[in-house]
This record gives sequence, structure tokens and C-alpha cells, in this order.
Amino acid sequence: MDLGLSHRIAIVTGASRGIGLAVARALVREGATVVAGARGTTPELEALAGSGRLLAVEVDLSDPDGPRTLVDAAVSAYGGVDVLVNNVGAVRPRVDGFLKVTDEDWEATLTVNFLAAVRATRAVLPHMAEKGEGCVVTVSSVNAFLPDPLVIDYGAAKAALSNFCKAVSKEFGPRGIRVNTVSPGPVATALWLGDDGVAASVSAATGGSPQSVAEQAAGGTATGRFTRPEEIADLVAFLAGDRGGNITGADFVIDGGLVTTL
Ligand SMILES: NC(=O)c1ccc[n+]([C@@H]2O[C@H](COP(=O)([O-])OP(=O)(O)OC[C@H]3O[C@@H](n4cnc5c(N)ncnc54)[C@H](OP(=O)(O)O)[C@@H]3O)[C@@H](O)[C@H]2O)c1
Repeated sequence: MDLGLSHRIAIVTGASRGIGLAVARALVREGATVVAGARGTTPELEALAGSGRLLAVEVDLSDPDGPRTLVDAAVSAYGGVDVLVNNVGAVRPRVDGFLKVTDEDWEATLTVNFLAAVRATRAVLPHMAEKGEGCVVTVSSVNAFLPDPLVIDYGAAKAALSNFCKAVSKEFGPRGIRVNTVSPGPVATALWLGDDGVAASVSAATGGSPQSVAEQAAGGTATGRFTRPEEIADLVAFLAGDRGGNITGADFVIDGGLVTTL
């Protein structure tokens, strides 16, 4: 199936590993040129840059000017932007409970999970509106609507993010711009399974091994496993391309059946 992404210019935030890297790979595979933003680089991202269809930009997207810097880099390299994938995000499990979450913690979480996407979207929309077309796909989370004290600030930030995307879809739909969100459950990336990931942090606080924490999370799904980053990436690529041409203001849960309600 041709997704209609060839020759498109796409920005992916948080693209050096995990879901963002998988999205960048999928978009390059589908013929797009990708501008990838992250603070650092990885051998995998450098290999993708070697294809000649990915420009890696080292940028801190928590910095107020970071998202605009990334968008400006894409516009100055390629003359415009067709697709924005707001993927950057981070979570720190609040194993000591809500009362230990400081203002600084809240600010850091809201900045990387919410404000970075607000700022990137604000920077990119005028370029899309000028062309009369464009597409924003944002990686939210099931925690946007599954409140959990373990990720209280992250869930609140993702709820704000999903709400924001829906509102933007209404204002910019008439100008040819589609805005959708993808809400994953547990995905097999460093965020969950890395040395500082959710599984390691929770197991350090509660006992047991990171593996048993991860197995418990997987056990809460109908499929019994974490989603693979490539599976999120395929959904994002579909939504970013022409095949999703009349899909906007929608949210797509991809969680192996973790959410049990309709
Ligand atoms: N994994 C899951 O289970 C899961 C579930 C639901 C939703 N999500 C969402 O999916 C998105 C991606 O998660 P992931 O699992 O792929 O995370 P990940 O493996 O931790 O990767 C995060 C990416 O974001 C970059 N990044 C982090 N902070 C940054 C900053 N301040 N500026 C620029 N880049 C930054 C990282 O690169 P650098 O460190 O080099 O900057 C990395 O490329 C997030 O929005 C997350 O909330 C994940």
C-alpha cells in the first residue's frame, strides 16, 4: 500500500531511539525526508542519516526555543514541512507518592511532554497553512485517560496534550491540516525497559526484578505483550500519509487491549 508519503518533509521529535527512531525509519522507508530532533545521537540514527534522507538535529526540546529551532532547521534545509510527529516525552515513576512530586518535577514533566509539542506545533502550523495542507501526529499515551498515581504528572501532561491536539484539529481542519493522536500502552523501549526505565525504577522501590514488573504490565493486556515501537510507527505513518486523508481530531489506542472499556 502506497501511503502517499514520498517526497514529503517530516519532522520527528525525540527521534534518536525508541518510538521516534522507529517512526523516522518508517517515514524514510515510505519515501519521506525526515528531520529528526533529539539531544544526542545514536548509531541507529546516524545509520539512517547515512541514507541521505534524514537530517539529525541536536536540540533540547525542553528548552523554550528548542522546538522552533528544529522547525527552522527543517524549513531552511527543505523549504517547508508537510508532517510533524510530536513524539518527544519522558516519564519518571513517582514511587514515593504524589506529595513528593515538587513544582520542579511538574514543570519538567509538563515541559517535555506537553509544552514541547505545543511549541513545535505553533512553529510548524504557519508553514503548513501557507501551503494549505499538512499533518500533525502526536504520540500521547493511554495515561491521558487512565489516571495513575505512579505517573501522576505524566498522565496529566498527556491529558493536556490530547486535549490540545483535538482543539487544534478543529481550528486548522478548514485550512487543510489534519491533527491526530496515537495513545500507546506499554511499548518495548528504554522508557519502560531501559536501565532508568519504568520497570527498573518500580522494581528498585518495591522489590522484585525489572523483568517481573514488565511481565506484570504485559499481563494486564489482552495480547500479553508490550507493543513494539515499529507497530506504533506503522500507525503513525498511516495517519501521516494520504491514506488517512479524512481522519482528523481522532485518537488511536494501540495497547494490546490494556484498556478494557469502549
Ligand atoms: N514506551 C512506552 O511504553 C510509551 C507508552 C505510551 C506513550 N509513550 C510515549 O512515546 C513517546 C516516545 O517514548 P519512547 O518510549 O520512545 O521513549 P525513549 O525510548 O525514552 O526515547 C525518547 C526520545 O526522546 C528524546 N528526548 C528526550 N528528552 C528530550 C529533550 N529534552 N529534547 C530532545 N529530545 C529528547 C530522546 O533522545 P535524547 O535523550 O538523546 O534527547 C529519545 O530519542 C513519548 O512521548 C512517550 O511518552 C511511550
